[in-house]
Amino acid sequence: MRTPLIAGNWKMNKTHFEAIKLIQQLGYELAEHDFGKVEVAVCPPFTSMRTAQTLIEDDRLSFALGAQNMHYEKDGAFTGEVSAEMLKALRVRYVILGHSERREVFGESDEDVNRKVRVAFGNELTPIMCCGETDSEKESGETAIKVERQVREGLKSVTPDQARSIVIAYEPIWAIGTGKTATPDDAQSTIGHIRSVLGTLFDGDVASSIRILYGGSVKSGNAGQILAQTDVDGALVGGASLDAGEFAAIVKAIK
Ligand code: PGA
Repeated sequence: MRTPLIAGNWKMNKTHFEAIKLIQQLGYELAEHDFGKVEVAVCPPFTSMRTAQTLIEDDRLSFALGAQNMHYEKDGAFTGEVSAEMLKALRVRYVILGHSERREVFGESDEDVNRKVRVAFGNELTPIMCCGETDSEKESGETAIKVERQVREGLKSVTPDQARSIVIAYEPIWAIGTGKTATPDDAQSTIGHIRSVLGTLFDGDVASSIRILYGGSVKSGNAGQILAQTDVDGALVGGASLDAGEFAAIVKAIK
């Protein structure tokens, strides 16, 4: 059985003071939550990682800590970058890789994403590897081709054992931060396609153990229907993860 995951991608929001407040509020909102049934991760900006880690550990909160990006090199002259080893030392569990904002705004290629995925595994980090189509790709019926390419390229040289633990997030770019979401049927259809691609890359058993999330304007009002789809194993939540009550309501929307 795949344990659903709700991951909050805070993006470039919240100072470390605000991060403390948000994590404490979230701890309060989810005090009765069964984290064995639905896993919850928070992915703050780098400046709040240490604060989040100590707060989560000191208050014995059950949130997993995630990063929003990392570099594939181990160390060296890479001004502004952060390594997998640095994240591992902070007991970070997840790292979002290949988010469309990294790809579109910062020019990350499938090859960059693949290098990062392999380095993450080498450092006991679980990648949340993102894929998704633009508005025009959707309009021209290229959704399946695009996400298939991103998944195949991103997982090159990944072993079946590593693949079992990876998390994939399908995030249509036109749905991110726009208030538009894929219909539950479209989300199921694309995520089902991703699972069948994983079946050909590895095997059916590995494919059925990989968690695939939906992302793109997930809110408490639409989460229930999307998360009820057979192949949808949770959500990567941007805007709505900045509000503890709203984010907790999404976690509780999983049946
Ligand atoms: P959104 O962002 O929920 O604000 O649409 C999702 C994401 O980019 O991960």
